Amino acid sequence: MKALVLSGGAGTRLRPITHTSAKQLVPVANKPVLFYGLESIAEAGITDVGMIVGDTADEIREAVGDGSKFGLDVTYIPQERPLGLAHAVLIARDYLGDDDFVMYLGDNFIVGGITGLVDEFRHNRPDAQILLTRVADPRAFGVAELDASGQVIGLEEKPDRPKSDLALVGVYLFTPLIHEAVRAIEPSWRGELEITHALQHLIDSRADVRCTLVKGYWKDTGNVGDMLEVNRTVLEGVERRIDGDVDDASETIGRVVVEEGARIVGSRIVGPAVIGSGTLVSDSYVGPFTSVAENCRITDSELEFSIVLRDSSIQGVGRIESSLIGRHVEVTPAPSVPSAHRFVLGDHSKVQITS
Ligand code: TTP
Repeated sequence: MKALVLSGGAGTRLRPITHTSAKQLVPVANKPVLFYGLESIAEAGITDVGMIVGDTADEIREAVGDGSKFGLDVTYIPQERPLGLAHAVLIARDYLGDDDFVMYLGDNFIVGGITGLVDEFRHNRPDAQILLTRVADPRAFGVAELDASGQVIGLEEKPDRPKSDLALVGVYLFTPLIHEAVRAIEPSWRGELEITHALQHLIDSRADVRCTLVKGYWKDTGNVGDMLEVNRTVLEGVERRIDGDVDDASETIGRVVVEEGARIVGSRIVGPAVIGSGTLVSDSYVGPFTSVAENCRITDSELEFSIVLRDSSIQGVGRIESSLIGRHVEVTPAPSVPSAHRFVLGDHSKVQITS
């Protein structure tokens, strides 16, 4: 069995972060979200991984390499444009050959891994198996309709009037039958070859498409709110570890990770929180559910329920909450007179101001 990991895409919902970097590499508890997926693929006993890459191919290649650090053998499959999940299957045909495979969306996060699911598929070997989870508002997802016996009878992509609250999770198990289906379908109104249409094609041709309800926690990290939520969930599970320097005037409370080479000076860190190596936190408060990546400077500020990417600095700005701050960002106070905000904001930035 192989894995097909999708790490291309446009990432429009995570702009401006995705203008300059791959959304699959945004860190969760200071580790790229994609790495959690690759680890669970390796854990499930799969070694051959086809990695779909787009505009951010170089960055993904640099981070993942040949996959050996995960115990994987990664082959890169360039996709000229994000033409849909089924398009990714189409272009991976040669790589996948006649093997069964798990398709894994590189920005999805599943607590508890996929080993149970892969074992179940290997044992029963239906034509395809999908994962479902109940969501409050299914309109933003692929939605499944089941009959009374729990068999999948229909699938719709982002329906206005969903027939159930069961959303498709970004992990799919396929036999080679899916290759006929992705060849048979036409692009949707949004110009993409939809995997839901390919699955519907299988259902219409009486293939055995089964579903499993996700038992644990699943999130698509496609937008900032979900990203912060996944970060919170992962941080809940970290163990306290202080490898960096914490001076006598500082306090670290609860599950706090201070990586080697990080320095905490005159500050209070309340876990769960992680502070990356090379980062200096001085005269500041870092509150629960916060990840600060490598080589940042947090000075005279307060930070809570946020993710700060590497090489950024936050100085003297009071309190920041529920924020995703990119790489090489500078956040500084404005002079008090004249009373005005001064910005250099990239395209698609989002700023909320308390006046
Ligand atoms: P999506 O989140 O559905 O799409 P997107 O990345 O274009 O994001 P947005 O909706 O914010 O514009 O993609 C799910 C995953 O699959 C993600 O890791 C990107 C990847 N993907 C591809 O590799 N190729 C594709 O053609 C598409 C549509 C997605």
